[in-house]
Amino acid sequence: MTPTPTGIPEGVKKADFVQRLFNTIAKRYDLLNDCISFGMHRHWKQQAVNRLQLEAGQTALDVCTGTGDLLALLLKAVGNNGQVTGLDFSEEMLAVAHKRYTVHLQVEASNLTLVQGDAMALPFADNSFDAGIVSFGLRNVTTIETAVAELVRVVKPGGAVLNLDTCPQVLLPGFDIYFSKVMPFIGRLLAGNQSAYQYLQASSKNFLTPERLQQVFQQCGLEAVTVNRTGFGSVAMVYGKKVG
Ligand SMILES: C[S@@+](CC[C@H](N)C(=O)[O-])C[C@H]1O[C@@H](n2cnc3c(N)ncnc32)[C@H](O)[C@@H]1O
Repeated sequence: MTPTPTGIPEGVKKADFVQRLFNTIAKRYDLLNDCISFGMHRHWKQQAVNRLQLEAGQTALDVCTGTGDLLALLLKAVGNNGQVTGLDFSEEMLAVAHKRYTVHLQVEASNLTLVQGDAMALPFADNSFDAGIVSFGLRNVTTIETAVAELVRVVKPGGAVLNLDTCPQVLLPGFDIYFSKVMPFIGRLLAGNQSAYQYLQASSKNFLTPERLQQVFQQCGLEAVTVNRTGFGSVAMVYGKKVG
């Protein structure tokens, strides 16, 4: 693997690396997510879905859906006549999502679709969804601008696009130590995979600031773009509406 200053491989190698990494940790991802965020990721995801202001009967897309916990919130927001789609390129993460919905929650297949695909080349027609969301996913893609442009392409004019993710500069003192030392330790303890959580820290540190992502949103055809920080400034929601 080509070494880079950040320790994260680039281009196709980054995509391979990320896909393998999430395939490896898929079965323990939910537990780890709860532990490292003290369960707060559930609250942030609910806040993000509220921000989309979905209505009954609408369609929503969750890109980089992973194990798909956010899909349940979208399903609730669009109701029985709505349509929700979750997309991810990790078959193991999708397998956990599939089990969650078909086995445990017995969601009607007509209401929810899980798709294996690439965030940078979405397999959907233009203007297909009322809203599109990414949570803790964008920093993993090879070219963020391409993934945002794709998301904007498949959302209907006037539809909402939102990204939820950690911020590279955290306002809370001590968070850096938590992120660089405690989190990889928890990762090793629970998943036997410290490097996965070292990657998480590195990818977060190298992610765009919310203000830079706000510019990318604007360049990709979104208007009324806003940034809202939560989690003591450690997490940001960047939101915009497709010009329509
Ligand atoms: C940190 S997880 C986030 C999962 C979930 N959205 C959440 O909030 O818990 C990142 C997910 O992005 C997926 N991913 C990364 N790059 C991708 C790409 N180019 N296309 C599709 N999925 C991708 C990974 O497979 C992984 O499931």
